[in-house]
Amino acid sequence: MGILEGKIAIVTGGGRGIGRGHCLEFARQGAKVVVNDFGGSSRGEGTGRAADDTVKLITDMGGQAVANYADVSSLQEAGELVAQAVETYGGLDILVNNAGIARDAAVWKMTEDDFDRVMAVHVKGSWTTSHHASKVWRDQAQKNGKSAGRIINTTSGAGLFGNFGQTNYATAKAALVGMTLTLAMELYKYGVTANCISPAGMTRITTSIPGFPPSFETNEVPEGTYDKMDPGNSGPILAWLASDEADHVTGQVIHAVYDRIAWMKGWHVEKEIFAGDKKWVAEELGGLMNGHLFGTRSIGISTAPTK
Ligand SMILES: NC(=O)c1ccc[n+]([C@@H]2O[C@H](COP(=O)([O-])OP(=O)(O)OC[C@H]3O[C@@H](n4cnc5c(N)ncnc54)[C@H](O)[C@@H]3O)[C@@H](O)[C@H]2O)c1
Repeated sequence: MGILEGKIAIVTGGGRGIGRGHCLEFARQGAKVVVNDFGGSSRGEGTGRAADDTVKLITDMGGQAVANYADVSSLQEAGELVAQAVETYGGLDILVNNAGIARDAAVWKMTEDDFDRVMAVHVKGSWTTSHHASKVWRDQAQKNGKSAGRIINTTSGAGLFGNFGQTNYATAKAALVGMTLTLAMELYKYGVTANCISPAGMTRITTSIPGFPPSFETNEVPEGTYDKMDPGNSGPILAWLASDEADHVTGQVIHAVYDRIAWMKGWHVEKEIFAGDKKWVAEELGGLMNGHLFGTRSIGISTAPTK
C-alpha cells in the first residue's frame, strides 16, 4: 500500500522534468494521475504531447494515468483540466502546480512578452487551477463537513533569494509564496492544505540558465549513491506533503535541493525605530537609518526611539 493509495492527483507540467518525477512517485504511491502538459519549448513556444510519455511510463508500471494538454494560463482550460479529473476518476485530492517556462535576460534586455508569459504560466497558471480545485473542495466540504485537498505550488531559489537575469521568473516564483500563504489561510477551514516546494533537478530549464556550469550536465554519480540532480528527487517529498499524514502542514515552504530538505522561514523584523509623536523628517533619516537600523555609520542624530 502506497501513502497515496486511491488519491486522485493533477500535476501540471507533468510531461517532463521535475513534474514527471512527481507523477511517477505519485503513481508508485497508489495515486491516479492526470498528467497535464501543454508541451512546447522551455520558453513556452509551440505545443506538444509530452504528457503522453509520462502516462505511458505510469501505465507500463501498472499505474493509472490520463493525459491532459491544457495551457494552465487559461482559466477555461484549467477548468476543463479539473473537470477531467473529476469525470475520469470521480474527484480530486491533490493539485500540484508545477508547469513552468523560463525566458531569462537582464532587465534592460527583457521584452514585455518575456515578462508577461512567465508571469502567465507560473503565477496565473497556479491561480487558475487553484481557483477551480478550491470550488470542488469547498462544495465537498459544504456537503460532507470536510474535504482533504492538497495544493502544492512550485517556487524556486530565484524567488526566495533572487537571481541575475530572472526579473520575470524570480518575481513569479516569489509571488507563488504569497499565493501559497493566502491559499493556506483561505482553505484550511475546508480541510485543504497549501504548501510550496522549491525543487531542483537537471532539466532543460536548468541548462537554459546563462552561465550554468557545464560540469552539472555531466554530473558523475559515485557508486553506491544516487544522482543528486535527478529531477525525480523531490517526488517523495511531494508525495508525503500530499498524504493524509501531512494534514497539519500548511502555508510552509520547503527547499529541496540535492539531498537536503530545508524548512524556509521568511521575512522578519530585524530592527525597528519609531517616529513617536513627531513625523519623520527626510534630512534626519540618514543618521537614524544608518546609525540605528543598518548599523553602518553613526552620523547626526543618535537619539532614535528604539523599543
Ligand atoms: N529544474 C530546476 O532546477 C528547478 C529549480 C527550481 C524550480 N523549478 C521549477 O520546477 C518546475 C518544473 O521545471 P522543470 O525544470 O522540470 O522544467 P521542464 O521544462 O522540464 O518542465 C516544465 C513543464 O511544464 C510544461 N508547461 C509549460 N508551460 C505550460 C502551460 N502553460 N501549461 C501546461 N504545461 C506547461 C512544459 O511543457 C514542461 O513539460 C517549474 O515550475 C520550474 O520553475 C525547477
